[in-house]
Amino acid sequence: MSFVITTPLYYVNDKPHLGSVYTTIICDTIARYKRLMGKEVIFITGVDEHGLKIQRTAIEKGIEPKKHCDEISKIFFINWKNWNISFDKFIRTSSKHHELVVNEFYKRVKNSDDIYMGIQKGWYCVGCEEFKDNPENSATYKCPIHQKNLEWKNEENLFFKLSKYQKQIELLIKEPDFIEPIERRNEIINFVSKGLRDFSISRTNVSWGIPVPGHSNHTFYVWFDALLGYVSAISSNSTNQSLDKSINEGWPANIHLIGKDILRFHAVYWPAMLISAGMKIPNKVLGHGFLTREGQKMGKSLGNVLDPDLLLSKYGNDPVRWYLIKDITLGNDGDFQNRRFVDIINNDLANTIGNLLNRTTSMSRKWFDNKVPNIEKVSSENKLANHSKLAVQNYIDKFNIYKLDQAANEVLSLAINTNLYLNDNQPWLLIKDKSKLPLVKEMIYNVLESTRIIGLLLLPLLPELSSKINVQLGSTYQNDVPWEKQLRWGLLTINSNLPKPTPIINKLEYE
Ligand code: MSP
Repeated sequence: MSFVITTPLYYVNDKPHLGSVYTTIICDTIARYKRLMGKEVIFITGVDEHGLKIQRTAIEKGIEPKKHCDEISKIFFINWKNWNISFDKFIRTSSKHHELVVNEFYKRVKNSDDIYMGIQKGWYCVGCEEFKDNPENSATYKCPIHQKNLEWKNEENLFFKLSKYQKQIELLIKEPDFIEPIERRNEIINFVSKGLRDFSISRTNVSWGIPVPGHSNHTFYVWFDALLGYVSAISSNSTNQSLDKSINEGWPANIHLIGKDILRFHAVYWPAMLISAGMKIPNKVLGHGFLTREGQKMGKSLGNVLDPDLLLSKYGNDPVRWYLIKDITLGNDGDFQNRRFVDIINNDLANTIGNLLNRTTSMSRKWFDNKVPNIEKVSSENKLANHSKLAVQNYIDKFNIYKLDQAANEVLSLAINTNLYLNDNQPWLLIKDKSKLPLVKEMIYNVLESTRIIGLLLLPLLPELSSKINVQLGSTYQNDVPWEKQLRWGLLTINSNLPKPTPIINKLEYE
């Protein structure tokens, strides 16, 4: 069975920002980990192209929505390639195939007698593409997320009978695995306990959308359309693309990773829509927090938006990944601080991991003819081997429950313990005494072996740094051997060649 993981489908009103990079990097890390653990992964990302927000953005630019979407979608696609994101599917909701799946899905929901025509009145945030609950009855009320005035809407729309699914949704959201973290689950339990209201799934004033069959002036509400991108993505490369094909080839998703602002859509509306269509519900909705910059919300009006392109070109992929994965607990809000970023990268990656590799390979090359020491027998009963076994076990345990920061810290702890082992044993002093040579060989072997395991553990987290470590150790990864097996102690080949060391990570300077 495949493991299906999704990022939100990003609105194409603008190019990717740090928030979208964050979500996508986390998904990428989980996708890489699952692949390494032997799963067949379908990692879905893509763009949400319809709706009033995009329609207006295109009008402001003075171009056709289609042209605008083509441009920005391409930027997203290229951007994820630049970040070395290992996505399997990139879905565009303006594609014909997606439209077909939406229509098939709508037919199912209609056949369940869950659609009716009604009047939709309320205050709407175009930024969120969402009606807001009971805001003060005034046009000056602003959306708390977008800080923009809400718009009054009063129109005939098609409605989905969400209220019919009250009991099923209540049962679903009580399951501890479905919504994480617990704060998010409680938020949703509270929302649902107030009673679910039917929501409108069509619009009459938005031309940039998928036409609703049988209702000539209606297009589908952008969320009704976009959520289905997760499904249509699965069969997007197949020859006969259809809803059934997607269902047979991977649905349901194992994880929807999303920001906390779009939780209701994923944890309430979406499951109800799926039940109505006779489809399976995703296993988990993981809601991450919001990123701020130096303690402040990022926003165009504040002029403090951090351009991810700039971060990537200035610092490279690994440092940004490390900061976002290790310094922010998945589920909590996080803050991007430049000084902290520089400190963490220098301490963790340059000093602790980079130096460890550099000094150990240098010693080994110098003392043992550019090779891994030629020891009699690999012992797996030593202090470092024990540290390593424990780190590997904890890392896997943490990764399996998506505590990515803790998994990253396990790797770092192993590197710290390996440095300590070197400092405690001081092989550079022992080497002066000929009788200690066997001991020094064993120590250096142990440190190199620990470094090999650190490199392997970094593979899903920092793929580029990991492969640099691998090269420096003489390319020890074996593509035909399961990754988990390669994490066992003692697999570094005795007497193998060690290439000339080159720095694997540069130290950063404060701005
Ligand atoms: N198009 C919808 C999603 C449809 S999914 C079928 C959407 N798009 S979005 O581009 O506005 O937002 C995408 C994601 O970015 C959301 O999960 C949102 O929470 C996240 N973020 C937006 N700003 C963010 C931060 N400042 N920090 C972290 N994530 C943030 O919503």
